[in-house]
Amino acid sequence: MVIIVKFNVQRGIKTLYLSIIILVIIIAIIGGILAYNYVSAPKPPSKISFYTWWAGLERFAIDAVIGNFTAKTGIQVEKTAVPGGAGVNAKFAILALIQAGKPPAAFQVHCGPEMLSYIYASPHGEKDFVELNSVAKDIGMTDQAPDVLKACALAGKIYTLPVNIHRANLIFINKQILDKIGGKVPTTIDELVDLSKKASSAGVPALIQAGADVFTIFHLWEQIFLAVAGPQKFMMFIYGTLDPNDASIKKATEIFLELAKTFPSNWQALDWTGAVADLVQGKGLAHVDGDWVVGLIYNVYPNTIMCSYDQITPNCNIIVAPFPGTEGIYNLVIDAVAVPAGGPETSQGVEFARFFAGPEGQKIFNPLKGSIAVYRNIGPEIYPTTIQKWEVSQYRDAKAFVFSLTHGALFSDVWSTLLQQAIVLAQTGRTDLWYATIEKALSNEKELWKGTWYMGYPGSPFGGYSPPWAK
Ligand code: GAL
Repeated sequence: MVIIVKFNVQRGIKTLYLSIIILVIIIAIIGGILAYNYVSAPKPPSKISFYTWWAGLERFAIDAVIGNFTAKTGIQVEKTAVPGGAGVNAKFAILALIQAGKPPAAFQVHCGPEMLSYIYASPHGEKDFVELNSVAKDIGMTDQAPDVLKACALAGKIYTLPVNIHRANLIFINKQILDKIGGKVPTTIDELVDLSKKASSAGVPALIQAGADVFTIFHLWEQIFLAVAGPQKFMMFIYGTLDPNDASIKKATEIFLELAKTFPSNWQALDWTGAVADLVQGKGLAHVDGDWVVGLIYNVYPNTIMCSYDQITPNCNIIVAPFPGTEGIYNLVIDAVAVPAGGPETSQGVEFARFFAGPEGQKIFNPLKGSIAVYRNIGPEIYPTTIQKWEVSQYRDAKAFVFSLTHGALFSDVWSTLLQQAIVLAQTGRTDLWYATIEKALSNEKELWKGTWYMGYPGSPFGGYSPPWAK
């Protein structure tokens, strides 16, 4: 009996020792695993990638934003700039990365359905992008930029955080050439056609448009169409609800072909920055483009003086006016940042977008970019050019807003086809091909909205036009 008790006590002590040893080993293993995980847990990267087309002569504003962001946060931003105005190359580079499931931390995009093209191309659709409504609210946009936010909202959702307001419907006129041919600033389409003919008969190219980076040709057709059709039909073009046989399309095209005859002989070799260089040097009368031209002239040709058409000064070199027939309309181009979701760089991507689109970023970006900030409480005094100050009041007093077809208001495939075919139209004058392209573009647009999406908020669509499915 005694022996048995002794034996059991010894066995109990042994078991206790064994249990303690096992416990220590388990604790050591768990501790090791935890320590390993702590050490090797993926740290947020301190370098993120941003895709853009603000390259070459367009780089100054974005470089200033990135420099300030890095100084403030320590996060390096590797800018991949794919050249080509209006994103003619960058958009497809970004689409390819997204399709391959390897998106950058953040990328440049326009507000508008252009963003839906990225969403459609993405493996998990909307889930692959950060919805930025709450960031927009945090950085004061809901209070200070409700109109711009509405233009950026897609059925109420913000996937594109706006960094500026650009204007597409502008004409830039070389004053010395205008004086030389004895003309005045045109305010109607008929006056523009007459003035262009006058320039041509004086041996001066009237409209220096640029075929090499493609976009300024369709950009011109778009402004003529806006002047002829007015804002309502323009909005219907965006939704594909416009009748392709609408008389405005034919009329705009005929005027376009008249004006295309006045392009310089090298128009197909020029990109938009080359066209602006030629305008500044007086190699032609005018250039139709957006106010990124103001940024380019300010940064690259500091001795060139710009003035608005309602305040022409004797020393002015380049007069800036609304495209004839579109006074009182603001054809919006809104640059923005989008952030792919779920990646190792996502939180820094959001941080970058927050800084860039926030008041601090916009005050750095817009003065150099030629655009104006989206915030109502950012006053005109921050802009270095009189044109930007003038635009603050043009924007405030505008009677109608539309969204540029060339810069964000079309789905990317439709957009690309129209850009290419506008070149063919200018080269060949083949209106039959052009009308067929427009008809197809309108039906594709309508289909791509998928009976679901629209610009604006529920019950409050952008531009005062509601496509039938948004009701
Ligand atoms: C537009 C863009 C502008 C400017 C322009 C020329 O699409 O919104 O910011 O970059 O293209 O490249």
